[in-house]
Amino acid sequence: MNAKHTVLVTRRLPQAVEERLQRDYDARLNTRDELYSSAQILQLAAGADAIIPCHTEHLSAEIIASLPDSVRAICSFSVGYDHIDLAAARSRGIIVTNTPDVLSSATAEIAMLLMLGAARRAHEGARMLRTNTWADWSAIGQLGIEVTGKRLGIIGMGRVGQVMARRARGFDMQIHYYNRHRLSPEIEQGASYHADLNDLLPHCQFLSIHCPATPETHHLLNAERIARLPDDAVVVNTARGAVVDDDALIAALQSGKLFAAGLDVFNGEPDIDPRYRDLDNTFLLPHIGSATRETRDAMGFRALDNLDAIVAGQEPRDRLV
Ligand code: DGY
Repeated sequence: MNAKHTVLVTRRLPQAVEERLQRDYDARLNTRDELYSSAQILQLAAGADAIIPCHTEHLSAEIIASLPDSVRAICSFSVGYDHIDLAAARSRGIIVTNTPDVLSSATAEIAMLLMLGAARRAHEGARMLRTNTWADWSAIGQLGIEVTGKRLGIIGMGRVGQVMARRARGFDMQIHYYNRHRLSPEIEQGASYHADLNDLLPHCQFLSIHCPATPETHHLLNAERIARLPDDAVVVNTARGAVVDDDALIAALQSGKLFAAGLDVFNGEPDIDPRYRDLDNTFLLPHIGSATRETRDAMGFRALDNLDAIVAGQEPRDRLV
């Protein structure tokens, strides 16, 4: 019988995923779920055939250059791959994979929750109950913005963006989108395409961000673009914090240019810009877009399907490089 391949798993993963890892691999699990430093990752990767990181591990060009020669694959437990320097991996001949598709519904659910929560001032209402400061029902208090029937702009009409559009149609929303390529009419389902992001923005009573973080999308939502949104717009971000310029978004929330923002992702997580916490018109969640039991299992199995293919000398389904 062949010896098992060795895999470094940088974070604690769901039980079913770790059981499969232990059954099929010599798995170096992180049972205490501590955040490894770069030095620890390099040390723990000694002799490993592969690494399964999460988005919390920043695999920079420097780290990838220092990985032991034994490492042939990085199978990320994430759809996003902004934490991995793909060029550095390619130059070392390391295969990199991600976990698309399986988290699209869960992430779109959180985007809907953020959109509804921000528009209907859920954070303020929930706080009243928890701090026992609900004085009375009022015909003029806690007035939010109705979501039903409004125009929703989607930046990035990939897998998650498309599910978001479907869910939002259940609220009779009219969908507008910006994407690098126009989608086919079957996928568009009547959504209005804008080839230029600046043309999309004036239509967006609600704006939901679903594009990856890349050098091109860094601070895509900046002061100039926010100024193009209608007054009282609501911004939702479940993609990556880096797509948003925090100074610009916070200024627009403070001035009242924007009605509210619903945010699940932030620059510098978990040390988010503290000004977000002081704003009543933010509805904030701690990067839980994919956090359902079903989806986290599916992400782990998808990462393992990719790894199984690689060690079997086959092409993995979700190869990035
Ligand atoms: C992803 O898969 O990219 C999610 O943000 C969780 O890491």
